[in-house]
Amino acid sequence: MKTLKSQNKSFSQEIYTWYSLFGRNNLPWRKNISPYRVWISEIMLQQTQVKTVIPFFNKFIKKYPTLKSIASASEDDILALWTGLGFYRRAKNIYKTKEIIKNDFKNRFPKNFDELILLPGIGRSTAGAIMSIAYQESYPILDANVKRVISRYKKIDLNGKDCTKQLWLTSEELTPEVNIFEYTQGIMDLGATVCTSKSQDCMRCPVNKNCKSAYEDINTRPKVKKERSKKKIYFTLAHSNDSFLLFKKNEKSFWESLWVPYDTNGLKGNDIFKEPANKKITNINHLLSHMELDITVEIVDYKTPFKVKTNLEHEWISKDQIHNYGLPKPIMTIIENHG
Ligand code: ADE
Repeated sequence: MKTLKSQNKSFSQEIYTWYSLFGRNNLPWRKNISPYRVWISEIMLQQTQVKTVIPFFNKFIKKYPTLKSIASASEDDILALWTGLGFYRRAKNIYKTKEIIKNDFKNRFPKNFDELILLPGIGRSTAGAIMSIAYQESYPILDANVKRVISRYKKIDLNGKDCTKQLWLTSEELTPEVNIFEYTQGIMDLGATVCTSKSQDCMRCPVNKNCKSAYEDINTRPKVKKERSKKKIYFTLAHSNDSFLLFKKNEKSFWESLWVPYDTNGLKGNDIFKEPANKKITNINHLLSHMELDITVEIVDYKTPFKVKTNLEHEWISKDQIHNYGLPKPIMTIIENHG
């Protein structure tokens, strides 16, 4: 009988050999590897799929190719590159982390796991991914893909008590000391292309021999449907001379720190706007991870921009500058379409 050790060795060996044959080595963050590029990509890849991330990563790296180049960026500069990617807290964490690296690490990217894990937005799995991909040091990871692959491989119940602890222990056991770069990306790619949430192509799987769920019909498993609460929101968007009046949102619930029109909170009419020359109502639906937004925007046109009496942070922003600000995607769409 095989010992646990030799079984584990064969799991990781199979994975890194498979990666060298079938891995997605053309992904942009797998070229010109640097700790900075790996960090940015890993933050973007938290909660977002590879194909969505690629154009955002390329745009981000074009503007900020290195840690040095991002050192003086403002939070707004970083949020502006996040419009449409969602989960905006990640952009705020990139801002906080690069400030810490600048102030406490002489702007050199930390090299130790214990330092990385203390940085905003970097949890155990992201720190493990940076250590293994950027520094080629053996650390386990446990992102959604890895969770799926190893839970199927070992038949770990994802609803079970202590399942996270068990998954981490399993990930630790399966992680090799050698070829960690290929292993880490290989297991991610296996989860993204072969052992996916929708299907499992066990014929093509390099670890099908010892997998406890191989060739099982996954369609028989109960599907967990995500329930989103519904929320209606009402904005008034003032427009004049190709500029839009936007307010920086400081409420914590969603879109924190993004620029949005005046939130009328469902109240008809409001205290800060005069009678406009023109009015138009637009409605747009937008899904957040946990909420379905039904957004009503009243666009009010004025001959000239006016001064607003409010202590909310606000600016008249011209249409050609709007892409330098972080806006939620549906608001950006409404502005782009308003001529
Ligand atoms: N998901 C999380 N990190 C990833 C990476 N480096 N490559 C592909 N998918 C990922």
